[in-house]
Amino acid sequence: MKKRDRIVRYSAPERINHWIVAFCFVLAALSGLGFFFPSFNWLMHSLGTPQLARILHPFVGVVMFAAFMIMFFRYWKHNLIERSDLEWAKNIHKIANNQEVGDTGRYNFGQKCVFWLAIISLVLLLISGIVIWRPYFAGNFSIPLIRIALVVHSVSAVALIIVIMVHIYAALWVKGTLTAMVEGWVSSAWAKKHHPRWYRAVKAKQSTSQQPNKGP
Ligand code: HEM
Repeated sequence: MKKRDRIVRYSAPERINHWIVAFCFVLAALSGLGFFFPSFNWLMHSLGTPQLARILHPFVGVVMFAAFMIMFFRYWKHNLIERSDLEWAKNIHKIANNQEVGDTGRYNFGQKCVFWLAIISLVLLLISGIVIWRPYFAGNFSIPLIRIALVVHSVSAVALIIVIMVHIYAALWVKGTLTAMVEGWVSSAWAKKHHPRWYRAVKAKQSTSQQPNKGP
């Protein structure tokens, strides 16, 4: 593919930021599942030893949250739900058949749902995680509150794992998406097909920046 057929979607710092979140997510999810189910205890070794996993798991979670917040403040505007998203949602059966519907901007309705569900579960994980974090914070809270926090922590962790499984499936399923987060670019054809409104905005910006400076 010619370089001029490529459109930049993510800069290198944005991609590093995303992969830090993804790396921390995998470690926190594996070690967390290891604590939760006896049959998954062996997963605690994903953070070295079970003892080390117990110490590191909350710190990995905090790093994931902090890195995600950078993504949150960078992308929240692009993820606001618009009226046109309803058309996408109503025609989800067509999307499942690889057709495109509506004049999608930088992100489609499915991606927007992943974004908001991820931030909601991450906030719940952080708050409940602090309440149950021994030896640093748990001593400040009552036993019933710690029990409630344990339920909230487990439910939001399972929700986030399901959301991210959908996110990964979609990233692999829509051909040409992965290069966006690996190399930073997508093809013009990909952008035109899946995100036509974003494509037009990028092209309009490119043509105004290429216009010759007429001088004063
Ligand atoms: C572990 C494997 C993962 C893979 C393969 C993956 C892949 C991708 C790809 C290809 C994109 C670009 C999509 C586009 O621009 O259209 C993307 C965007 C994004 N990813 Fe991931 N990702 C992973 C994990 C995660 C995790 C763990 C999180 C958050 C907890 C996350 C949050 C996001 C967000 C917020 C975006 C921007 C899309 C938006 O704002 O709606 N990703 N990811």
